[in-house]
Formats: sequence, structure tokens, C-alpha cells
Amino acid sequence: MNKPQDMKKLFIKTYGCQMNVYDSDRMVDALAPEGYEATTNIDDADLVVLNTCHIREKAAEKVYSELGRLRIMRQKKEQAGGEMMIGIAGCVAQAEGEEIVRRAPVVDLVFGPQSYHKLPELVEKAQRGKVVETDFPTEDKFEHLPKPKKEATIARGLTSFLTVQEGCDKFCTFCVVPYTRGAEVSRPVMQILTEAQDLVDAGVKEITLLGQNVNAYHGEDANGNTNGLADLLYKLADVKGLERLRYTTSHPRDMDDALIEAHRDLDLLMPYLHLPVQAGSDGILKAMNRQHTVKEYLDLLDRIRKARPDIAMSGDFIVGFPGETDEDFEGTMQIVRDVEYAQAYSFKYSTRPGTPGAALENQVPEDVKSERLQRLQELLNQQQKDFNASRIGTTMSVLFEKAGREEGQLVGRSPYLQPVQVQADASHIGTIQDVEIDSVGKFSLFGNIVTQ
Ligand code: 5AD
Ligand code: SF4
Repeated sequence: MNKPQDMKKLFIKTYGCQMNVYDSDRMVDALAPEGYEATTNIDDADLVVLNTCHIREKAAEKVYSELGRLRIMRQKKEQAGGEMMIGIAGCVAQAEGEEIVRRAPVVDLVFGPQSYHKLPELVEKAQRGKVVETDFPTEDKFEHLPKPKKEATIARGLTSFLTVQEGCDKFCTFCVVPYTRGAEVSRPVMQILTEAQDLVDAGVKEITLLGQNVNAYHGEDANGNTNGLADLLYKLADVKGLERLRYTTSHPRDMDDALIEAHRDLDLLMPYLHLPVQAGSDGILKAMNRQHTVKEYLDLLDRIRKARPDIAMSGDFIVGFPGETDEDFEGTMQIVRDVEYAQAYSFKYSTRPGTPGAALENQVPEDVKSERLQRLQELLNQQQKDFNASRIGTTMSVLFEKAGREEGQLVGRSPYLQPVQVQADASHIGTIQDVEIDSVGKFSLFGNIVTQ
């Protein structure tokens, strides 16, 4: 271990999904024993890592524009006698590998999501020449990643992500994930329970289980039996001190009866479910290889809502998948009207190299995509507003996370991840309180703690 005077600074910029947020923290943990300390000031950094996203073209292109800025920053630093190593991690690294170094010679190190445990060795190697590491190793990276220091976890706050599953075997025809994150792998149950206990011991109250297809989780327990996500949730519910559980993101095909029952049985499992449908026409769903129909999705939601009547839905949508007609798109508008989402993400279809969708003819013109996206987003925004307004007069549990911007204000999250603001004493931070909602702003709900 290096001495404190050798302390080096690490700056990580995270793009894309929550798993990248989790992974960036793991990179910080992996490099901590090497004397690297995380900084939020890029000018100080000895090592800059861009943890990238490849899901849509725009996300991937951001990396190259950022690299243009970094090249100038590095030049300045070198002129002043300093150094700055530049690494590219995440899904662009995995997908493009060597190509990144060719296109942007300023990059020293390219490494994919399956090699984060090797980071100390890779950084060391990169001192001597360019390194590109995009293999899918056979060993379990989680076994090799060091535990975060307790102080680091405390500093990260009251809520935490925890990756339980990585990769995807579904091969939706628009999606790069099966290629960038690889085949589905589930972490063993004991590993997850230990990590959850460590988080709770450091004050974490709410854990969001992460996986590209988290409800396909099938991890091995201590007895060698395969556990599904429902089994895992019941076990996590026994972790003393853990107050809230969430999981994301799910595929409708993997929403089994046991998981639906877990929503009925477990109070700490928040009644908020991200269950993307992507499109509302059977023809497009088939072309996307989603492996279910509109009716099957709606029937599934009926069953989920029967089990947990207060559940609210979140989703993802793609408009302009190749071959999408006006009528297909009306199907998407209709499914949104039928489901009434509390919140949703929507995107224009983006052609991803190497995916089956990229080879399809009848791509939808850009202006048609834009017009459809606008209509869809208007509807989704209205539904989100309506959902927020429907909370007025109700009492919701709120986990208070921090002080607000104004004097005496606290900010927390409802079960539906809505920011909630109240005037209350700071001693409530870290606790869950019942709050009666009395008004709704653009982004937040407002109310008062209900005194028992
Ligand atoms: N184009 C547009 N959106 C996409 N998504 C995934 N791949 C693409 C693509 N090629 C969206 C899906 C997915 C979310 C994470 O990103 O809606 O659920
Ligand atoms: Fe991509 Fe489909 Fe897998 Fe989700 S389920 S990660 S959209 S291939």
C-alpha cells in the first residue's frame, strides 16, 4: 500500500444507467488500496475515467466530444509538469475496444465492465503503454472487488444500488446490452446478503437491486439451490435495519407468480415497478423479439395490481422502430392510456451496430420519429402530473435523505421515488416518516410530517 503522500486523485464521469453508477463506486473501491482518492474536480485528477454508455448513438458519441475536451486539458496539465491518465470504461469500451484508441489517441486505457476488479493492474500496465482489456474473464469479478471502506459507504448516503445480476439473454432486436454486458450472470445469494448487511451496517436504509434483466435472477444459495428474485427478496427482507427494497429493470416475461406474491407479502418492497413494454403493437413487439403480446402485458399488470393495489408503474418506450406504422404507434399511445404510468422514459429508435434491428429495412424517417416522440412524451408527462396530483390529501411514507435548499427544509423520497419536501427538524434525516401531502410543484411534492 502506498504512503499518504503518494495519494493520487481519481475523477470518474458516469454516463447511462444505474449499473454504471454502481460500477463507478466499485472502481473507486478497487483503486483505493492503490492510493487513489476520488475527486469531484477534474483539474486535480491524475486519472480520469469515463464510464460510458452505448445504448443509443447519442450516448456513445458524447464520449468522443468529452475526449476532445480532455485532450486539451491534458496538454495544459503536461505543460505545467503534471500528468493525466485517461481511461474509458463501460459499454462503449466493451463495444469499440481498440477502435477507441485509434480514433482518440489521447486514451491510455480501455477496459470493459467485466474487468473492473483488475483495475489496479491495468492502470499500472498503462503507465508503460496503451492497454485494451475487453475479455469476458471466467472468474467472478465480484469475488475480487474489494469491499468499500465503511466511511466510503456512509459518505454515499442512505440509499444504495446493489448489482445482483448482469448481462442479458433476451436479445431484443434493438438492444446492444447482450453484446456489451454479455450473457446473464447472477451473483450467489450469500454474496448479496453480505453486501446488503454491510450497506445497512453503514446506515443504508434503502437498497435497489440492479440487473439488466433483474427479474431473471437465478443465483445459488448456501445449500446449492437456485433462488429466483422472489426468494432473494424474502431473504433480504430479513436483513435487520433494511427498510426499503426496490429492483430494476425487469422484463415482462420474467415476472413470475412468486415475484408477484412477493409484492403482496413484503411491506418493505416498494409499490413501484419499472416494467418496460417498449411498444404497444403486437407486430412491433414481435419484430423487437419481446416475446409477449400487448394483451399478455396488460393481463400481467392486472395480476400485479390485484396482488398490490397501490402499485404504480414506470416504463420505457421506443418510437420509430423499423416498420412502425401510424397504426402501430397509435397502439403505443393506447397502451399508455390503458396502463396510466406514474413515470416513464421514451426514446427515438437508434440504430445500433451489430444488432438485428440495424439490418432491417424500412427504417422510420427522423422527422416521423420526432413527431411521434413528442406526442408520446406529452401524454406521459400529463400522466406523471396527474399521478403526482393524485397524491394530494394522501399520507405517504417518506425516507428523509438530506436538508433542502431553504432554511429548515428536508428532502426525502416517497415510495414512488417522488422528491418530497417538508419543513422539519434535521434530526429526521435518515428516518422514514408519514407525510401528508398538501401540494405539488413541478418536480416535488410538499407536505407535513404527521405527528403520531
Ligand atoms: N434505441 C432507442 N432506445 C433504446 N433502448 C435500448 N436500446 C435502444 C435503441 N437502440 C431503450 C429501451 C430500454 C432502455 C434502457 O433504453 O427502452 O428499455
Ligand atoms: Fe436489452 Fe431487451 Fe435485454 Fe432489456 S431485455 S437489456 S432491452 S435485450
